[in-house]
Amino acid sequence: MSMTVSLLAYLVSSVCCIMALRGLSGPETAKSGMRFGIAGMTLAIITTMFMPNMQGFGLIVAGIAVGGAIGAFVAKKIAMTDLPQLVAAFHSLVGLAAVMIAAAAFGSPAAYGIGEHGNIPVGSLIEMSLGVAIGAITFTGSIIACGKLQGFITGKPIVFKGQHPLNALLGIGVVVMIVLLCMTQSPLLFWAIVAVALLLGVLMIIPIGGADMPVIVSMLNSYSGWAAAGIGFTLQNNLLIIVGALVGASGAILSYIMCKGMNRSFFNVILGGFGGEAAAGGAAAVKSDKPVKIGSADDAAFILKNAASVVIVPGYGMAVAQAQHALREMCDMLKKNGTKVRYAIHPVAGRMPGHMNVLLAEANVPYDEVLELEDINRDFAQTDVAFVIGANDITNPAAKKDPASPIYGMPILDVESAGTVLFIKRSLGSGYAGIDNELFFYDNTMMLLGDAKAMCEGVIKALEH
Ligand code: TAP
Repeated sequence: MSMTVSLLAYLVSSVCCIMALRGLSGPETAKSGMRFGIAGMTLAIITTMFMPNMQGFGLIVAGIAVGGAIGAFVAKKIAMTDLPQLVAAFHSLVGLAAVMIAAAAFGSPAAYGIGEHGNIPVGSLIEMSLGVAIGAITFTGSIIACGKLQGFITGKPIVFKGQHPLNALLGIGVVVMIVLLCMTQSPLLFWAIVAVALLLGVLMIIPIGGADMPVIVSMLNSYSGWAAAGIGFTLQNNLLIIVGALVGASGAILSYIMCKGMNRSFFNVILGGFGGEAAAGGAAAVKSDKPVKIGSADDAAFILKNAASVVIVPGYGMAVAQAQHALREMCDMLKKNGTKVRYAIHPVAGRMPGHMNVLLAEANVPYDEVLELEDINRDFAQTDVAFVIGANDITNPAAKKDPASPIYGMPILDVESAGTVLFIKRSLGSGYAGIDNELFFYDNTMMLLGDAKAMCEGVIKALEH
């Protein structure tokens, strides 16, 4: 394949990756976005394999076969709720790949067309050392993030005195070593950068509560993109630079959107300590003397049958209970009864971006019934029933009323304005933020205590009769 043809193919595959990101921005276009992504990556791999000076064809094919088979097997097996840790595990591999490519380029610069051993141009050394440092941080940081989410490392923040100054010192140390490496080209310094960056990856992520991990996974996603872009400069590979920058920028934007949805600054997340108790399962029951109305599936069915309009508010508990199919079945029955049913999605409902949209799409809920917070919030006042299923923080009025609350300022769904609020959860315990929700005690709230799926099935049975 001539250089011109391969450049053209790389350009086409870059455009496919951009189209993939564009497609993934909405549920209707997500599938076509995925197809663009697959097409772009396939073209990129084929083009790379037929580059003029390509060697080791057999090894590359074997690597793709083994890696692809493992990837396909894991992706097929994984439960939807475990996706964040899978993504973290995959990012760790991107980080490791960046470290290995940089090490190969540093050890054999001639093979990469970047000078001779000990005589590598400064520009290449800067690209390479940035790639290797970010890659090493991504590698160990992602392993810790995956461990916290999977539960083989405690979800509680691991903190010790002087942790942040130590991290800052190590960060400065990496920058100083990069400067020295550019001056001396010493292999010892190269490996010292790798070692310190690996340690920094661990130390940066351990103080962060398990529940904040989705933001961190997205941040590490961004890092892995920048590491790939850095290595793209070293390898003079335009596609790697473009795709790395796309991943880097989209991961950074996603982290920003998540922080905005939670009304927290990025530094607040990075400095850690938030949500650790809730993540560790420490959701204590709300202490209150106020009476709480507790209903049954039959009570809920009666109220729903008499409602002209219902807005469903799904949250993390729906994902845990895998209640989306039973929920859709219940809503189908209500629609048959002439009830107007819509779904309200909070930007940070669940534990990952688009979590609720994915689950509702899986249950074949029509896209036009699924509305974002800003499109539906005003309608609660004209709604008969707000049906909150496994959600908590995203409905908590403390976000509007209590300046001392950790979620103060976070936009929430105004479910309390509806005629009746039906609240499915297993207890009066707190959610991710670990704070009480006074909504449970409002006059127009009825708590339906139980597992979300079992409760929906109970309501379906009651509606049938
Ligand atoms: P939460 O506030 O975490 O509330 C979920 C509720 O589900 C819990 O209070 C729990 O109460 C209930 N639950 C758990 N298992 C259940 C089951 N099997 N059946 C019924 N209920 C069950 O979730 P939310 O309202 O979706 O809010 C999301 C939170 O996560 C926000 O605070 C947000 O800031 C945070 N967060 C989100 C993201 C993204 S990107 N989505 C990223 C990081 C953090 P019981 O234990 O009483 O059942």
